[in-house]
Amino acid sequence: MTTNAKTMLATDEAMRSRHSVRKYQPGVTIPEADLNEILELAATAPSSWNLQHWRFLVFQDQKNKERLLPIAYNQQQVVDCSAVIVVLGDLEADKVFEEVYGPALKAGAIPQQAYDTLQGNVKAAYTGNPELAMKEAHTNAALAAMQLMLAAKAKGYDTVPMGGIDREALVKEFNIPSRYYPVMMISLGKAATPAHATGRFPLEKVVIKEGF
Ligand SMILES: Cc1cc2nc3c(=O)[nH]c(=O)nc-3n(C[C@H](O)[C@H](O)[C@H](O)COP(=O)(O)O)c2cc1C
Repeated sequence: MTTNAKTMLATDEAMRSRHSVRKYQPGVTIPEADLNEILELAATAPSSWNLQHWRFLVFQDQKNKERLLPIAYNQQQVVDCSAVIVVLGDLEADKVFEEVYGPALKAGAIPQQAYDTLQGNVKAAYTGNPELAMKEAHTNAALAAMQLMLAAKAKGYDTVPMGGIDREALVKEFNIPSRYYPVMMISLGKAATPAHATGRFPLEKVVIKEGF
């Protein structure tokens, strides 16, 4: 079965109605155009120095989803959903600097001096600092993951983010290069059963004004 979702929700509607769905209609194929749009929207996320640390490892083949099942500690949504997206974080994001800033330099949009300074800053941050690289990979990939889930909701799909995954096994099973760290896995598809309601803390608990 192929679905075609044209729905777009307003941002606030998507945010308020998104909840983690763990029961999916099996056998639903997401049209490529929808999937691509969701991934494109996810990739509009901001990132440190615009280094775009996210990579999306997409699984739609049922056989591969079965391979993911034990890796996700048998969370059934992995096989019932339409697609599983592993959001990877780039641990060597400094390597894309030229790709990101080169065109602007060439076009004269940024001066050579600004380019050199920026490049120096990125190099200084990443050199000999794997802890920073890991934090950056997590922070930036997580922003894209959140956008992915909201974009999916806006287009009529549901998701569940999963951190409960055996990362070592995932890397081994799918030959993920050491450059990329699996930040989280997301199931994407059409809900069979609505998500159960979850509450949120009131603003008084989570907002601290002007310091502690
Ligand atoms: C980083 C992260 C990891 C999560 N890991 C799992 C998981 O492995 N399995 C699962 O069923 N839900 C997982 N969740 C979903 C949370 O349980 C869920 O977001 C939370 O209870 C709030 O519910 P809601 O998303 O329906 O609003 C995870 C959520 C996040 C943000």
